[in-house]
Amino acid sequence: MQNITMPTAGESILFGGDYNPEQWPRETWDEDMRLLKQAHVTSVTLNVFSWALLQPGTPDEETYDFSMLDDIVDTVTKAGLTIVMATSTGALPAWMTLRHPDINRVDFQGRRHRHGGRHNPCPSSPTYREFAPKLAGLIAKRYAHLDNLVCWHISNEMSGYCYCDNCAAAFRVWLKNRYGSVEALNAAWTTNFWGHTYHSFKEIFPPNELGDAVDENRSLLPALTLDYRRFMSDAARGIYNLEVSAVRENSSTATHTIPVTTNFMLDFKDYDYFTWAKDLDVVAWDCYPSYDTAPSHIAMWHDLMRGLKGGPFMLMEQTPSRANWQPFNSMKKPGQMRAQSYQAMAHGADTIQFFQMRRSQAGCEKFHGAVIENDGTSDTRVFRETAALGEELKKLGTSVAGSTVHARVAVIFDWQSWWGMLGSVGPSVSLDYLTEIDRYYSELYRRHIPVDMVSKTSDLSGYDAVFAPCLYMVDEPTAANLRTYVRGGGRLVVTTMSSIANENDRCHLGGAPSPLRDVFGVWAEETDALAPGTSVPLEFAEDVAGSVAPAGSLLCDIVRTDTPAEAGDSTQSTATILATYGGDDYYAGAPAVTVNEFGKGQGFYVATMPNSAALATVVSAVLSGLDAAVLEGGNAVVESASEGLEVSTRTADDGTALTFVIDMAGKGGEVRLSEPRTDVLTGRTIGGPTASESPLTLEKFGVLILQ
Ligand code: GLA
Ligand code: ZN
Repeated sequence: MQNITMPTAGESILFGGDYNPEQWPRETWDEDMRLLKQAHVTSVTLNVFSWALLQPGTPDEETYDFSMLDDIVDTVTKAGLTIVMATSTGALPAWMTLRHPDINRVDFQGRRHRHGGRHNPCPSSPTYREFAPKLAGLIAKRYAHLDNLVCWHISNEMSGYCYCDNCAAAFRVWLKNRYGSVEALNAAWTTNFWGHTYHSFKEIFPPNELGDAVDENRSLLPALTLDYRRFMSDAARGIYNLEVSAVRENSSTATHTIPVTTNFMLDFKDYDYFTWAKDLDVVAWDCYPSYDTAPSHIAMWHDLMRGLKGGPFMLMEQTPSRANWQPFNSMKKPGQMRAQSYQAMAHGADTIQFFQMRRSQAGCEKFHGAVIENDGTSDTRVFRETAALGEELKKLGTSVAGSTVHARVAVIFDWQSWWGMLGSVGPSVSLDYLTEIDRYYSELYRRHIPVDMVSKTSDLSGYDAVFAPCLYMVDEPTAANLRTYVRGGGRLVVTTMSSIANENDRCHLGGAPSPLRDVFGVWAEETDALAPGTSVPLEFAEDVAGSVAPAGSLLCDIVRTDTPAEAGDSTQSTATILATYGGDDYYAGAPAVTVNEFGKGQGFYVATMPNSAALATVVSAVLSGLDAAVLEGGNAVVESASEGLEVSTRTADDGTALTFVIDMAGKGGEVRLSEPRTDVLTGRTIGGPTASESPLTLEKFGVLILQ
């Protein structure tokens, strides 16, 4: 676990979120305070988008006006709320974009934007790099002394790329630092392909539509796109860090440690969050599932956010009711917001925050839900549910905070592999990295097996099994890490599209999963892409449970367990075939799932995308012989639970464990415990002496927190 500083509201966790009183007349603020107190709100996030108010640009560019923010800060302080203070650089002042056009991004089509939107400064803009940290520093200097200021929030949901000339110049410097010489870059990128040999860094441009791009994800030289993604991730982190330094340098009056963070997002691919995490004192993220987002997918992203620093995180935003920017903005049903909040907590959230406190009366978020709706009263379902949750959380206090999830199974998540696969032309347009990670994660989730989401260079030695679906990009440190893990006794699963390329997106020679062929005892001679909607039956040596016939789809590697004669002295590997392809295609009978003994461990290779039946059989094979109770950890107290009930346990340093059982599907269900436990939400002992005989009934979106 890296160092994590979690803000709290004294005896309570942060419960509240974005509050934008600058959109309202002064009279409304006092009413807001009354209502927020009634909702048991303990914290507000202020100043997310106020740059244009704070720095009006007249009479000169050095004039700042903090009067309204002072008033807001004073109001919420008097109301006894804690403050998460944003630096307000998430939206640019219009005057600044007009006077200093370098601050506006140039898009993928090569067009310089003008003022509009938000979250869109050019990271290489001299104007932005001067004005943004200056403002952050002034804000820190002005408010750091406040006892109730508990967290700094830099910018907001930083995202996106710029393709301007300043970025091109900065990219060249970045490339020079990475490769040293243009010759080394040519070698790394294999630029003799399609005559791309460069003789000077000056010849290299961002991969946009005017140049090498095929589309926003792909270019003629995938290594160029890949490095541009890395560069943009670093450049955005660079402007984040400029503000962080300014805040720290100007916080000498602080009476306590104030952590600095920014808010991450769901399914976010632009930046590599693993590299960012070390620069955040605490990971914070905004969770906006759609009506059809699988609960397992939300759980996975919570686990990933916990994995970034190996400990608790902030749930910085969620909607109390509905979003507005999704295609179909369904309301959260009665109880669903509470269930989702506890789900976040069960996976490591130590704050429950919302966007937003009062609904905007105008602007593009006028249909976005809020704690205080347009009727302006407490007499709404959403307000009542928020207040009820606030009251419950107040009772829980900080008892859960700081504890973490203990997992014996890990899933490797890798932005670099995501980018690499996305940047590749072929082998199938249906290939989607997140879907493949979900596939394996959801099977573990279904089994109530806690999972750590880790990076490919994380220490894996504490895990009984590690799943690395589509680990496309394997560099030398990764290969060494994975090899060490299996040699030491780990069980490692890779799939088709794994260990294809090195860090420059150059294919490893010797057949995938080279350079780990000896670990898995197989190599993929061919990879077939299946026609959409088609599948290939799989024949397992073991019986397959259930009524669905096992099958593979999307891609089928045709793997061989022998070694080509010229490659080594042994011609047959030790791999055992667990399943073969059925059907009548030319590769019927070829291995589809294999396991190889390597050192003290095992390397599993899954050559296709398994359907649910095949996946369940594969996961059972991987986990066979491991003690289920150990794998499940604290979750093992749940002997059985209806489909759709989620089980997750947080354990404190002193061993105290809280097991959350949550009906995420909203269908209700039954739970059997192996021994009696106390539900900390009601104080009732449940389970009873004959615990496993009498099931408990959980209402729709019901939650139990068992101690
Ligand atoms: C994001 C932003 C907020 C708000 C919400 C709406 O998370 O950070 O400012 O726009 O979306 O869902
Ligand atoms: Zn730029």
